[in-house]
Amino acid sequence: MEFKITTYSEQETIELAQNIESEKFPNMVICLTGDLGSGKTVFTKGFAGALEVQEDVTSPTFNIIKEYTSGEMPLYHMDVYRLEGKVEDLGIEEYYTKKGITIIEWADMIPDYLPEKRLEIKIKSSEEDENKRIITIIPYGRKYEELCEAIL
Ligand SMILES: Nc1ncnc2c1ncn2[C@@H]1O[C@H](COP(=O)(O)OP(=O)(O)O)[C@@H](O)[C@H]1O
Ligand SMILES: [Mg+2]
Repeated sequence: MEFKITTYSEQETIELAQNIESEKFPNMVICLTGDLGSGKTVFTKGFAGALEVQEDVTSPTFNIIKEYTSGEMPLYHMDVYRLEGKVEDLGIEEYYTKKGITIIEWADMIPDYLPEKRLEIKIKSSEEDENKRIITIIPYGRKYEELCEAIL
């Protein structure tokens, strides 16, 4: 199962994130992939806003993991771009079962540490239009398939 969506503005990508948030459940894991500037953090901010996270969500590149607890559910925002060999030290997998929502930017960098059941979102920029993004959504696991069917 695979879904394709094209967004033509940052706002449309935020709306996609809001729609996915509306079907959230504890221990949900969202894996974001796409080049620098494709919109992974935009998506995460949109999701956090819908979750009513009060803090300003910023890219956790240097912290790797940021936890936001002011929303309806805890949000664990990770950016594993600079992680390299240190995955095990961080205990990333523990976050998947802490009853919150985990969003991982650059998830394709840590294929061996992703949960089997997850929502994969690949964002591709377009050469013809700087505000266009081709977004591919792949659900792994029945809950994620149902989520996709509900909103897409
Ligand atoms: N359709 C779109 N969806 C998401 N972001 C977009 C879109 N069009 C333009 N942008 C811009 O692209 C940039 C994405 O940045 P960011 O989310 O930080 O990327 P990443 O986290 O993938 O490196 C932002 O400046 C945003 O305004
Ligand atoms: Mg980012």
